[in-house]
Amino acid sequence: MINLDTSQDLNPLEIITIDGPAASGKSTLGQRLAQALGYLYFDTGVMYRALTWLALQQGISMTDEETLAALAEKVPIEVTPPSKEDGRAYDVWIGNQDVTWAIRQPQVDDNVSIVSLYRGVRQALSAQQRRIGLRGKVVMVGRDIGTVVLPEAGIKIYLDASLEERARRRCAEMQARSQNVNYEEVLQSIRERDRIDSTRDIAPLRPAEDAVYIDSDGKDIDQIFEAAMQIVCSRQKQSS
Ligand code: DC
Repeated sequence: MINLDTSQDLNPLEIITIDGPAASGKSTLGQRLAQALGYLYFDTGVMYRALTWLALQQGISMTDEETLAALAEKVPIEVTPPSKEDGRAYDVWIGNQDVTWAIRQPQVDDNVSIVSLYRGVRQALSAQQRRIGLRGKVVMVGRDIGTVVLPEAGIKIYLDASLEERARRRCAEMQARSQNVNYEEVLQSIRERDRIDSTRDIAPLRPAEDAVYIDSDGKDIDQIFEAAMQIVCSRQKQSS
């Protein structure tokens, strides 16, 4: 765990974490919850993606841990409200470059889990995430948020779905963005990311002991949102 002082009036019930595997619907759920509660939505995967995209642009080897960690320390990633109406929920900037869609390219998908393995990379990015989370009134989405980044969060959700369901959803998202789609390739790519994300030594993907597990197979977004809202409301009511 990263040691940073926690604010004395921090209310853990105002920190909501959503962890789960690739394409399980975390982003959609996180955005809906944040909007309903008037909280900040923060998708931590964006930071790993932005770093990976920049490393690919700069021709840095995905095995060069030291250079990647040094880049993670200094890369100026900003997430700001959407500046365009092209389906984006927010802008992602590296310096003055808009990388919102660039970080969703298959080349980034195929390398981001490798970049996320490295201790120096995780330390740099997790520290930034923790600082944002500790301000409270936040829905933070990722792989290790409830377990490592914000273990003191009062409401933790682990959102899961079968590999096939997730591959179908990812294909639909890509089609909506007019990207070329091959279901088998998408399935393989997600399977490989699952393997790397859940077997890594540092902060592997797994539910926190105090997380509520939601299986989203066969549920639409409204049903998943209702289930999550019930969890939030009952926790917040219990403590008031
Ligand atoms: O949620 P996503 O698919 O955009 O995340 C991209 C990658 O970033 C994911 O495969 C692993 C990494 N990641 C991580 O290691 N820890 C997080 N908290 C968020 C993402």
